Amino acid sequence: MSDIKQKRKIIIAVDGFSSCGKSTFAKAIAARLGYIFIDTGAMYRAVTLYALSHGAIRSGIVDEEAVVKLLPEISITFRFNPQRGASDIYVNGDLVEGKIRTIEVSNCVSPVSAIPEVRQKLVAMQQEMGRNRGVVMDGRDIGTVVFPDAEMKLFMTADPAVRAQRRYKELQEKGMPVSLEEIERNVRERDKADMSRAVSPLRQAEDAIVLDNSHMTVEEQMEWFLKKFAEVTNRPSEHEREESCASR
Ligand code: DC
Repeated sequence: MSDIKQKRKIIIAVDGFSSCGKSTFAKAIAARLGYIFIDTGAMYRAVTLYALSHGAIRSGIVDEEAVVKLLPEISITFRFNPQRGASDIYVNGDLVEGKIRTIEVSNCVSPVSAIPEVRQKLVAMQQEMGRNRGVVMDGRDIGTVVFPDAEMKLFMTADPAVRAQRRYKELQEKGMPVSLEEIERNVRERDKADMSRAVSPLRQAEDAIVLDNSHMTVEEQMEWFLKKFAEVTNRPSEHEREESCASR
């Protein structure tokens, strides 16, 4: 980190489509800057897992009222895990990091994340976590709803065919039999669902910088990011601009 001149800590919002490598990228930049990384998708997944294990989702059907009733008893916390170099997520003190990425949770998280009361609770938590700045937050609505005043907003995208190919390779490496066509269809369907939902749909903030990583390596993305980061943090903040005007 010594090579990056840090004037002030900022909020970096990383939004974008699924399977773009958002989490990997957000985690890498947080580590590089010594910032806290917050995976907001994990929070929606944690609520979904709790709803599944407390009877608010049965046979894949989400009972919205039952989920809302459970909300007051759900406490989500993050604890840094030095082995992973990232924070693990806990629900009511129980480590759930390894349980939130199952197919069962993935299949139900979309309708759970569309419940207004769920979003209200999680957005308030996310805003509290970023109160002292110095965070990289990855999600769908960070630059538009959670931190519309974030100093740096990134919007990640990649060609659906490239994303499908990456996901295909990942699943193949895990020994899962899948077809590339099926994955590409799923990627396109999820894009549509994310963008068309009524509550906090995925959209690019007007002041977001687009990162299309279809043909970029992880190293190239980091290089791109560090240049943009230097531009943003070397610019005087609104507060500094006000001070300099007042002192004239
Ligand atoms: O990033 P992910 O796939 O782990 O996200 C899980 C789900 O949560 C996904 O359906 C989109 C939703 N989500 C959201 O609605 N808002 C966020 N800020 C983050 C995720």
